[in-house]
Amino acid sequence: MKKTELEDIEIQLLLEGVYLYYGFDFRNYAPASLKRRIWNTIQEEELTSVSALQEKVLHDPECMERFLLNLSVNVTAMFRDPTFYLAFRHKVVPLLRTYPFIRIWCAGCSTGEEVYSMAILLQEEGLYHRCRIYATDMNEMVLRKAKVGIFPLQMMQEYTQQYINAGGKKSFSEYYTAAYESAIFSSSLKENVIFSQHNLAIDSSFNEFNVILCRNVLIYFNQLLQERVHNLLYESLGRFGILGLGRQESLKATPHEKHYEELEGNEKLYRRIR
Ligand SMILES: C[S@@+](CC[C@H](N)C(=O)[O-])C[C@H]1O[C@@H](n2cnc3c(N)ncnc32)[C@H](O)[C@@H]1O
Repeated sequence: MKKTELEDIEIQLLLEGVYLYYGFDFRNYAPASLKRRIWNTIQEEELTSVSALQEKVLHDPECMERFLLNLSVNVTAMFRDPTFYLAFRHKVVPLLRTYPFIRIWCAGCSTGEEVYSMAILLQEEGLYHRCRIYATDMNEMVLRKAKVGIFPLQMMQEYTQQYINAGGKKSFSEYYTAAYESAIFSSSLKENVIFSQHNLAIDSSFNEFNVILCRNVLIYFNQLLQERVHNLLYESLGRFGILGLGRQESLKATPHEKHYEELEGNEKLYRRIR
């Protein structure tokens, strides 16, 4: 047996163990990036093999927390891909104005930058008071940060520019208070947000939404898991609901491609039509 085959078996055993013991299901994540992240953790934990990582992860919950952080790739930003938000303002907001109440699901929200960005946009468009945003992620640690809504002050220059490019209507600094090295975001932005844990790989639909954002999450999944999640998103979206995906994601090769129309194809904004 080749070394790589043995490594694949060890990885399979590690993921099976993590699933059985902790309930986190990484078995259908895209293999190349998964392998890289597993090896990063092996090095950080000063180990030499996948089996040694399995042993440590299963016996040491703190090691599991670090492993989870490494596997879940929490990179995010406020007004990430500003033109997405610009398209949302121009194409989606007019549709949302016709609804008396708007339910939004931000799936895989990481530390919440996307959620605060959306709350700011909706406030500026006079819609926020009619909205409820469900912000979910599988990782409790990042959700805790999201709930607090405090981000590094050093990021504000970049975020201000992104906010302007996203069609922001005010001065970005109106939304936070600077304290030492932190930007503390206005608590009014989270008034209508519910943060909770939800795992797209194992959990089911929990409501019907007018808008679902699931951006930069599916890229980490293999085809099988992408299909599962697309089924879940489709089931969770009301008729004429809006789906927003990440820049490198699309509906191509999903069972639901024909159920949506492109609202703004370049920005991966779709509308469910049947
Ligand atoms: C790269 S971040 C994207 C954050 C944000 N949506 C954005 O576009 O900036 C990916 C997020 O997906 C979450 N994630 C990964 N697998 C998940 C799963 N099975 N269920 C729910 N969230 C998951 C990770 O914890 C991480 O916070």
